[in-house]
Amino acid sequence: MIPTIKDFEEKKVLVRVDFNVPLDDADITEDERIIAAIPTINFLLEKNAKIILMSHLGRPKGQVVEKLKMNNVAKKLSELLDKEVMKLDDCIGQEVKEKINEMKNKDIVLLENLRFHAEEENNNEEFAKELASLADVYVNDAFANCHRNHASMTAITKFLPSYVGFLVKKEITILTKIITNPEKPFIAIIGGAKPDKIEVIENLLNIADKIIIGGVLANTFLKASGANIGKSKFDEKSLETAKKLLEKFMDKIILPVDAFVADNIEKGTNSKIVDVKKVPDDAIIGDIGAESISFYKRILKQAKTIVWSGPLGAFEFDKFAEGTNEIGLFLSGLKAKVIIGGGDSAAAIKKLGLEDKVNYISTGGGAFLQFLSGKELPAIKVLQKESY
Ligand code: 3PG
Repeated sequence: MIPTIKDFEEKKVLVRVDFNVPLDDADITEDERIIAAIPTINFLLEKNAKIILMSHLGRPKGQVVEKLKMNNVAKKLSELLDKEVMKLDDCIGQEVKEKINEMKNKDIVLLENLRFHAEEENNNEEFAKELASLADVYVNDAFANCHRNHASMTAITKFLPSYVGFLVKKEITILTKIITNPEKPFIAIIGGAKPDKIEVIENLLNIADKIIIGGVLANTFLKASGANIGKSKFDEKSLETAKKLLEKFMDKIILPVDAFVADNIEKGTNSKIVDVKKVPDDAIIGDIGAESISFYKRILKQAKTIVWSGPLGAFEFDKFAEGTNEIGLFLSGLKAKVIIGGGDSAAAIKKLGLEDKVNYISTGGGAFLQFLSGKELPAIKVLQKESY
């Protein structure tokens, strides 16, 4: 059982949220993850708590990166709540403590990006203790980061009474229903720009009937299959695993058959559709090609449950958005149960105005996939108690 947020009347409540929102430079392009934290924040406001929010943003790797500061996130949250949100310049230290000690009931503070300290990703106990010293109780409402064994997610629970917020509770309840008994055939579509999804694929292969692959992950699998992918991004570390998975699950792993390539994705120069086996040396794969789109649709038609995470190409550029858009449109017209995870696929669905046509949109990307693949989420595991 996981202890759920309760009446923290007038307490200092440290809430781990996932405000890792997509950015265009420093501007927020999607605010869903911020909106998703509001039920917990509102509940705490009603209880006269002092609310201390903390999150990571991007992957600054222990350095202060100007455009990954939380300033715009605080501004956005303040607009959404129509209430002041005070952004602090750090997440630990004397100055932060002093500011927090001055908080009144119902005040909201947002700490600076946790990942400006390398200790966050190292799950450093001293760092977690420092964070914990700011408050009376801890609430994890960062579902999208629950697959990360980081200081503000797991180590911190050693130092404060710990609970989950409404978002984490909702996500787990809905996603548990999906994995306990998915109607078969169950097909997953996994794309996106983050290269490190191979483990998730490994797990998912045990429960899905087929996995359709796009994005950077498709490049890794194509390279592992011996294809030339030109100058396209791929994950070197995953190549060996990808090779083994291709051997073992040949019938389950579905790769693109053609690709829409260009010399420069941003400029779209020298763009053309080519057979995946004939990507020119100088080209970069920007999207799946027309034949792959039809091929994927034919497979998806058979599904009763579909899980989709990650765009199939560089959909942020209109020229390379066709694969993602076509598949999104197609999914919205199917009778199958469709569950979407990952900020970018959710953004794609919303851009098409189809958010009401799918069954559920999760705030999680990696966490969503890890949960669906049946692997434990470390930040949830540490909160599970037999009774409380
Ligand atoms: C996500 O967007 O999946 C989470 O915020 C975790 O971010 P990360 O992949 O950079 O750890």
